[in-house]
Amino acid sequence: MDVVIAADPVGVARAAADIVARALRHRVVNLGVATGSSPVPTYQELAQRAQRGELSFGHARVFLLDEYVGLSRGHAESYHQVIRRDLTEAAGIPDSRIEGPRGDAADLIAEADRYDHLITTHGGIDLQILGIGTNGHIGFNEPPSSLSSRTRVVALAEQTRMDNSRFFDHLDDVPQLALTQGLGTISEAREIVLIATGARKAPAVAAAVEGPLAARCPASILQWHPRATFVVDAAAASKLE
Ligand code: F6R
Repeated sequence: MDVVIAADPVGVARAAADIVARALRHRVVNLGVATGSSPVPTYQELAQRAQRGELSFGHARVFLLDEYVGLSRGHAESYHQVIRRDLTEAAGIPDSRIEGPRGDAADLIAEADRYDHLITTHGGIDLQILGIGTNGHIGFNEPPSSLSSRTRVVALAEQTRMDNSRFFDHLDDVPQLALTQGLGTISEAREIVLIATGARKAPAVAAAVEGPLAARCPASILQWHPRATFVVDAAAASKLE
């Protein structure tokens, strides 16, 4: 695992975008994408580079990391819509190349299996972009999560629901359940970039990078990955030894 420390969120966005740009130059990319605040500046940087003709998403396909259960694809806070707003519309990636689990599926267990299988049939994720929760979650793999878990239905931790309530009118509106790629699924990505900014993430970053590899810190599984890079700002790095 590598750790890149930039001075501030702008530096983080540039460093993370450089990694994505390099992957896009070298191969047709299945790009795994997290939602949430952390990767937004990186997505903006990527979209601007695409608009300036400095990179092309070509035939890249975007795979969502997770999705709320109970929200339709058209719901403003579904991750399908969030990724359209934050990345694909500005980057010129058509809707037909956005893949994700359906949070409104009638049979959620079958939907989780379908999505896990879909990733495999497309040849796997080339580059996965991640954020990290204040409790060390990646995707919605809350602590404790099995290190070999596959895409599945999970209950959101209260901390996560509170953290995400800023996107909803009321805490009660934040879904209780989500579909998420599992830690085993995420680990199969050929390359992983985790983005974290701000002092609130410092304890989780320190636990993931320097703590034991353990189900109680799901992001610690990245210690085991041959090509995982944490790109963090100075504040998020402040609890690293
Ligand atoms: C969302 C996801 C989550 C977030 C994490 C951090 O798709 O995968 O694991 O990355 O909750 O969220 P922010 O960046 O909003 O602090």
